[in-house]
Amino acid sequence: MAEIRKVGVLGCGLMGSGIAQVSAQAGYDTVVREVDEAPLQKGLGSIEKRLARSVDKGKLDAGKKDEILGRLSGTTSLEDLADCDLVIEAVVEDLAIKNDMWRELDGLCGPDTIFASNTSSLTIADMAAATDRPGRMVGLHFFNPVPVMKLVEVVKTIATDAEVFDTAFDFARSLGKEPITCKDNSGFVVNLLLVPYMMDAIRAAEQGVASVEDIDKGMMLGTGYPMGPFTLLDFVGLDTTDKIGDIMFEEYKEKRYASPPLLKRMVSMGYYGRKSGMGFYDYSGDKPRVVDLGI
Ligand code: 3HC
Repeated sequence: MAEIRKVGVLGCGLMGSGIAQVSAQAGYDTVVREVDEAPLQKGLGSIEKRLARSVDKGKLDAGKKDEILGRLSGTTSLEDLADCDLVIEAVVEDLAIKNDMWRELDGLCGPDTIFASNTSSLTIADMAAATDRPGRMVGLHFFNPVPVMKLVEVVKTIATDAEVFDTAFDFARSLGKEPITCKDNSGFVVNLLLVPYMMDAIRAAEQGVASVEDIDKGMMLGTGYPMGPFTLLDFVGLDTTDKIGDIMFEEYKEKRYASPPLLKRMVSMGYYGRKSGMGFYDYSGDKPRVVDLGI
């Protein structure tokens, strides 16, 4: 099986920064790439903050924190990922953008480098086909917040080499995660079931079944979920969920994956959820307050 020593992460947003963190925490030399310096510094800053919080809570040794940060570097150049054994992509959910990066990296990295995507809803095959290394492409799908959530979906396409899949599976385990094996269908396991649930919650509110707060309360207290669907939508990002819905609807042509009109309007208005400070809840005060959306 291939040995992973150096890991490249594409994207230092919500997911990419978490993936880079857990990779460096597990002892891998990790380089994370963003398109511009500003989002890169923001992402690296969020990692530092999370590690500092762990030190404050007594869960991480201060020296360990410095070691982790010492293994982590940031860049805006794809060339700095050329000597990575594994590259994990966590950029915006747009096939053309992802494939532009894969094509460029295909020419920069050695033939043995494994390419992995953290896509939520695209298929890995649609990325593998853009490269000259379809056998060395897998899915490694993490969950938000990456440092906390235990699951990684490890995805094999019809062309993934068995040895590459095993290496990716072991890599996920080495991060302290629990991997599961998934086929390369849009949404894999979790989003296949979670996306219709979140979309249905919006439709239920639109139909006046109950208020946003009461639907959240109902699902938390009635099923033991840690967050209700609207809190989760705001947490995942409404823009991200809308994109995922579009891609899954395009793939399956089933209404349950389609973004309800309200979600589309909220995204148009810049209500992206927690990351923009406003979604189904307003996050500008001490406590989230439900937003009056006229439903
Ligand atoms: N980043 C890092 N760590 C975080 C965090 C974050 N954003 N939010 C919370 N944590 C940590 C806290 O520091 C705390 O750590 P500790 O136990 O070491 O002190 C621990 O998580 C628990 O946090 P809290 O006590 O503050 O809060 P909760 O107990 O409510 O847990 C939660 C927070 C883990 C986010 C929990 O509410 C949860 O599990 N929510 C559901 C999350 C979920 O469903 N994620 C999947 C989304 S779907 C997805 O990602 C797929 C994609 O393709 C769309």
